[in-house]
Amino acid sequence: MWSGFPLFPEQASSHAARVDALYFFLIALTAFFSLLIGLMVIGFAIRYRRRSPNDRPPAIYGSLALELTWTLIPLGIVAVIFFWSADLYLTLNRVPKDAIEVHVVGKRWMWKVQHMTGQREINELHVPVGVPVKLTLTSEDVIHSFYVPAFRVKKDALPARYTTAWFQATRPGRYHLFCAEYCGTRHSNMIGSIVVLEPAAFQVWLAGGASGGSLASAGEKLFQDLACVTCHRGDSGARGPALDGLFGRSVALADGGTAAADETYIRESIVTPSARVVAGYQPIMPTYQGLVSEEQLIQLVAYVRSLKAKGPAPATAPVAAAPAPGARP
Ligand code: CUA
Repeated sequence: MWSGFPLFPEQASSHAARVDALYFFLIALTAFFSLLIGLMVIGFAIRYRRRSPNDRPPAIYGSLALELTWTLIPLGIVAVIFFWSADLYLTLNRVPKDAIEVHVVGKRWMWKVQHMTGQREINELHVPVGVPVKLTLTSEDVIHSFYVPAFRVKKDALPARYTTAWFQATRPGRYHLFCAEYCGTRHSNMIGSIVVLEPAAFQVWLAGGASGGSLASAGEKLFQDLACVTCHRGDSGARGPALDGLFGRSVALADGGTAAADETYIRESIVTPSARVVAGYQPIMPTYQGLVSEEQLIQLVAYVRSLKAKGPAPATAPVAAAPAPGARP
């Protein structure tokens, strides 16, 4: 629709048309009221101009009808904007369950991508058309922002934190990827491409790029190489907590609090182990800050995620089983 109108990037994801619809509604609304107010300022200035030095307009003491009108109409308009954009915001932030996962690390000045199946790319991301893709973003140094205009996706990549975004590409092609947060001298060169392939072509691409096994298996190798396994053995005498079935659960901490064992918590427990120590254990784990890269941290997190619970369920309660507010115990 906008191919002949270069002010707008093409619409190549399921988000694009919805984001544009809201955007054009806001533009039209703003244009309408700017015009209306501008014309009324000019019209009233002419109509109610001072006609003689003694001209005195009649005094006005309020008008209920007028005040209700200029209160209720704007209220209705902003309510439409609120509910429309809240609905869109939730859509953009709720990742579908069946999304394939991709990990992205921003670094001055490149984008490093790892697929769960082990493929790695730099400044390129290959995805299949018609499938939701979840991005987990982080940064190795400063704040970057992952921006794909054709998908209407923009998400900051922050150091020491994981952020997520998702999209579903609607047609094959090659789309621009930008860094949208000034990050230093070569910020404007921190660009790349999203390559959207037909499902069959994507399978061919996957088969061609596989090297050292999946992300989780790369993490398992690191887990051995870094000797994590000597403390996190999983038996009762181990010096570190067992990691089987840990991911997604709620963990009791030494300070009496709890933590949800998500990706951010696991990453933090590797680089700053003393931040949130598990109840019943001493804060004896050394930090791995600087010893493992962000990409290796992602591999380790993927490995911990892949560890399913063995034998009887651990004493910690699953996060999902927390009672809903107001539910009877
Ligand atoms: Cu990275 Cu700008």
